[in-house]
Amino acid sequence: MELIVSIRQMQYYAEQQRYAGRRIAVVPTMGYFHEGHLSLIRQARQLADVVITTLFVNPTQFLPGEDYERYPRDLERDRRLAEEAGSDVLFAPTVQEMYPAGYTTRVTVLGVSEKFEGVFRPGHFQGVATVVTKLFLATKPHVALFGQKDWQQTLVVRQLVRDLNFDVEIVVVPTVREADGLAMSSRNIYLLPEQRQKATVLYRALQRARELVLQGQRRRQVLVQAMAEELHSVPEIQLDYAAAADAFTLDEPEEFAGGQQIALLVAARLGQIRLIDNEVVQVPPTGAERA
Ligand code: PAF
Repeated sequence: MELIVSIRQMQYYAEQQRYAGRRIAVVPTMGYFHEGHLSLIRQARQLADVVITTLFVNPTQFLPGEDYERYPRDLERDRRLAEEAGSDVLFAPTVQEMYPAGYTTRVTVLGVSEKFEGVFRPGHFQGVATVVTKLFLATKPHVALFGQKDWQQTLVVRQLVRDLNFDVEIVVVPTVREADGLAMSSRNIYLLPEQRQKATVLYRALQRARELVLQGQRRRQVLVQAMAEELHSVPEIQLDYAAAADAFTLDEPEEFAGGQQIALLVAARLGQIRLIDNEVVQVPPTGAERA
């Protein structure tokens, strides 16, 4: 596997691959790989001739006071894991390479970026949209893979791709979970053993709402309350939000329609650690709705 750190060199490599008629997949990451990242790389391997994994802890998507400085980093470990999972290139630019002195451009996606994470982390999605734009321009992919764990991010990226006419197919890969349901995340290593145990309440909250939807519950408030109740059963949890929204527009109707895809979204803090998770579930249509 090749390690590339310069944007120019990355573009040259991608251009050569395209010229040779090869399909390029990119897996954008911030590193410290776990099974979730590796499943993205493995899936990318199935979809393209060349797999480029990007590794860049993007400072512009962290708010002041967030964990940018202490975000886990281990290039050598990531390099080995990416190679084992089937990546051809690890693109790992420095901050100076991505945002040199005098850099001023920002990419803003309105709409889907303005709720939920957008409220609790203002500016976060602008940082994501900006860096994803730059990563696409550096790696020139045909297809890009993102994890479902950051559901709202996938909507922001889809909107970005539509609006700026990026000729890139977006593939969303299901969240990989620990045996007890906790969504894998690079930040999980910060959880103390007792917090690690308690963190599974996010998954339980989502499952409870999911079951209600599958049993025919369509009222948004009932779903939201069920999730909040479950989350509040762990006193150490500080809830940012529990929400049920249209999975693609993030609209929040009083009542969902048969056949509609709902995103159940939760974000909460356990001590210093902020956790997010989601489930996407379809409202079962009645016989009449199916007809
Ligand atoms: O999901 C992530 O790891 C990051 O937000 C991304 C897409 C790599 C952009 O920095």
